[in-house]
Amino acid sequence: MLNVLFVASEAYPFAKTGGMGDVIGALPRAFTKDVDARVIMPLYSTIPKKLRETFKSLGHLYVQMNDKFDYCGIFTCDYEGVIFYFIDNEAFFNRPALYGYFDDGERFIFFCRAVLDAIPYLDFTPDILHCHDWQTAAVPYLLTHQYRMIFPDMKSVFTVHNMKYQGVYDFDHINGYLHLGFLPSDLEFYGRINLLKGALYSADLVTTVSPTYAEELKDPYFGEGLEGVIREISDREVGIINGIDESCYDPRTDSALTIPFADSDNKKAENKKALQKHLNLPIREDVPMISMITRLVEQKGLDLVANVIHEILQMDIQLVILGTGDSVYEDLLQSVAYNYPDKMSAIIGFDEPLSRRIYAASDFFLMPSKFEPCGLSQMIAMRYGAIPIVRETGGLKDTITCFDSKTKQGNGFCFATYNAHDMLFTIQQAVSLYTETPELFQDLIKKAFNTHSDWTLSANTYLAQYQKLLGE
Ligand code: GLC
Repeated sequence: MLNVLFVASEAYPFAKTGGMGDVIGALPRAFTKDVDARVIMPLYSTIPKKLRETFKSLGHLYVQMNDKFDYCGIFTCDYEGVIFYFIDNEAFFNRPALYGYFDDGERFIFFCRAVLDAIPYLDFTPDILHCHDWQTAAVPYLLTHQYRMIFPDMKSVFTVHNMKYQGVYDFDHINGYLHLGFLPSDLEFYGRINLLKGALYSADLVTTVSPTYAEELKDPYFGEGLEGVIREISDREVGIINGIDESCYDPRTDSALTIPFADSDNKKAENKKALQKHLNLPIREDVPMISMITRLVEQKGLDLVANVIHEILQMDIQLVILGTGDSVYEDLLQSVAYNYPDKMSAIIGFDEPLSRRIYAASDFFLMPSKFEPCGLSQMIAMRYGAIPIVRETGGLKDTITCFDSKTKQGNGFCFATYNAHDMLFTIQQAVSLYTETPELFQDLIKKAFNTHSDWTLSANTYLAQYQKLLGE
């Protein structure tokens, strides 16, 4: 039996701001009996009370941060067969949001130190610490440089879910928490401390969430200043595509849907009508509905959408967008929707049940990302019979291939260059397939329903990498 402790700053259903939270919630349970995978994360005050009531205390300790000692409680629970551990400290984690505070560097270095200090208090001895994104990047660094004597054989794996966020802080601000006397070159980034860089150098294995993104990271366009480091460590960097929890995203059983449906019945159309009614759009079964469910930020291609939104709305389509993010996009989408009440609905918010109703109602799902380490929504969309229109980057390139109406190969619509008119042209092609050759469009939907993106394959790939690391 191989023991793996996932170290992460979020995990569904306890706390989630994005796709990484879904991954940490799902991957540990996808392993077969060969792996005992558990999770350790901060005990945020925002964790739903119903879940917190199931936590049991495992004791407490004090973590040295600079010249003071901070309290650290350890709690645990068993959630649907996976053991979770929680690091408790009110000053750091009793906040209304997970991230976005002036002391995030200090908060997450505390978390990383606390994880390493708490391990001897757990009823579990990890062979591998599998850490995710910058918030946990100090773990591989500290394990290699300061905790080696305590854990001589423990290995670390570091997964990059998004290279854009690296945890960069002034040396004077956080050096005390890392117990550094000077700025070592494997942390140095333009005179500051870069926690992610430290993890790339110290982890025994670096993974990212798709094979294409693993390659793209060697390029300055995607590498965010760390492309040189990635090239240097490329012999221990691999890309492993994420999966989705197919039992959770199942249109036959999804309780959020007005009318659950299967691929063989015609009830997907009922879902479209129900959503049109809910959003005050004209109730028309024949109109192609294109949707986006996304953070409204540049990464997701919102600038392309903004650029040609009036052209998109010249077509006979309905456009539904759900998300929150930068106020410039929130304001713009709302004002355009106000001017096209028959064609567009922009819902600014985070609403899980509504998101599922949108997937179920839509014919197309638009993801024109500038970069996309993996992307989960395109896989979820296909489960609900919505055909992805994507830019060929990262995980989108690895999961979606262009449909060719002659050979009938491919499962979506793609464009390569990050250009608004290329996107517009691809949307126009998709819409014309829908209106002009409905039988081909039905084939595509069938194909989408039959696409499987569950976690089994990825979990086996991770297992093979773990075994290699441990020399098994
Ligand atoms: C980040 C990436 C997204 C990926 C997710 C899970 O949110 O932006 O592409 O799917 O992490 O790995």
